[in-house]
Amino acid sequence: MTRVKKETKNEVRKPKKRLKQIQAIKGMNDILPTDQLVWDYVLDHARKLCTELGFGRISTPILEKTELFQRGVGNITDIVEKEMFSFETKGGDDVSMRPEGTAGVVRAYVENGMSKWPQPVKLFYEGPMFRYEKPQAGRYRQFYQFGFEIIGDNCPAIDAQVIYLAWKILQKSEINDTIIQLNSIGCSECRLAYKKMLVDYYEMKINKLCHDCKRRLDENPLRLLDCKEEKCTQVSFSAPQIIDHLCEPCHDHFKNVLEFLDELEIPYVLNSNLVRGLDYYTQTVFEIWECDSEGNQNSLGGGGRYDNMIKLMGGEDAPAIGFSFGIERVVESIQRKGIKINKRIKKDVFLVQLGNLARKKILRIFDKLIDCDIAVGESLGRGSIKSQLRLANKTNSKLALIVGQKEALDDTVIIRDMESGMQEVVTLQDIVEEVQKRLRN
Ligand code: HAM
Repeated sequence: MTRVKKETKNEVRKPKKRLKQIQAIKGMNDILPTDQLVWDYVLDHARKLCTELGFGRISTPILEKTELFQRGVGNITDIVEKEMFSFETKGGDDVSMRPEGTAGVVRAYVENGMSKWPQPVKLFYEGPMFRYEKPQAGRYRQFYQFGFEIIGDNCPAIDAQVIYLAWKILQKSEINDTIIQLNSIGCSECRLAYKKMLVDYYEMKINKLCHDCKRRLDENPLRLLDCKEEKCTQVSFSAPQIIDHLCEPCHDHFKNVLEFLDELEIPYVLNSNLVRGLDYYTQTVFEIWECDSEGNQNSLGGGGRYDNMIKLMGGEDAPAIGFSFGIERVVESIQRKGIKINKRIKKDVFLVQLGNLARKKILRIFDKLIDCDIAVGESLGRGSIKSQLRLANKTNSKLALIVGQKEALDDTVIIRDMESGMQEVVTLQDIVEEVQKRLRN
């Protein structure tokens, strides 16, 4: 006979052990509802301005073939060398989570035959990007970018338009203390001669360079200019400046860009060490920096011309330029500055009920109002009419529709004007029409 062990008092009372919490992956954050309001504020300005300037929205996959970024962004870049989330699929393909948006947009331009569309093609996009960087304030492993690209026009006025748009989006979001850092890194031809000059210069100071710079000197000497290591910054200070070595067409192009920017009264500074961390750039490159209270420079966004990339991706030769900003960085700047955003969510109608039968009637009204595009608030879980009316007030609702126990039985509804407090009883059948009439007034 099996003996059943009796539960002792202690065992019964023993508290159940809580399961270990699962936390988000380092550098990948939740965006909570209050933050989303600021995200919407920024994105609404960005989308509106892009649409008004004739950009069409494009979405490209998060996962692309690794080769796309190796070829587009460049093999000898931090992004491709160290920061991509790459893996092999079950089918044996090498894929990567996109670390940036431009390469995917260019692939889509070529793959979808956009060179046959009226040129230039203007596209904007937004979404998550992934870089395996050391997480810190403003630097995450999953972050979001809003970006735009103009493909098919090499006029310097287009460069000025892209810089203008980037700057204007921030202005509209009330970020006014930015400065545009601007440079030209020339075309493949003038850069070739300049690179040789740079290599000669750095080779003379090779012992003063960091390990990464020593390694990159032969493959990608331009990147030495923006190395953040103190000892390398010192050496770069006296390095030859590309601006003095541009070929005539590149020089003229840049001069025109500056003149257009002056015309638009956009503030910029020339920064000869600005080379950007991606390999696809040619001629104009720029970043938008913000200065925080401690004097630290924070790059909100960056971009530039990439006239060789379409061909590099197997398309017909076409010039292009674009920009993208980190949405978190812009949102954090708005929050730091305490810029007020209208957080009150305005509802047209708030539904108030008492009892289960009333709830059923309210659900039916809810469905009809939603079908008529009326913004509806409700608090189906709450019992007291008083607390529901308080919520109606908080959500700035114009009308409250109240169904108590009596109204539920009579198939009627009380309409309350939330401003005047005036109430009227109408039949359930006429309710939508009555609401529409009152909202129109
Ligand atoms: P990027 O400078 O690598 O350029 O990134 C643009 C912006 O994305 C940065 O200025 C920054 O605001 C944000 N960002 C970059 N990495 C992180 C991170 N780890 N955490 C948070 N934010 C970050 C590009 O990506 C180019 N595709 C821009 C472009 C478009 N060039 C031509 N068209």
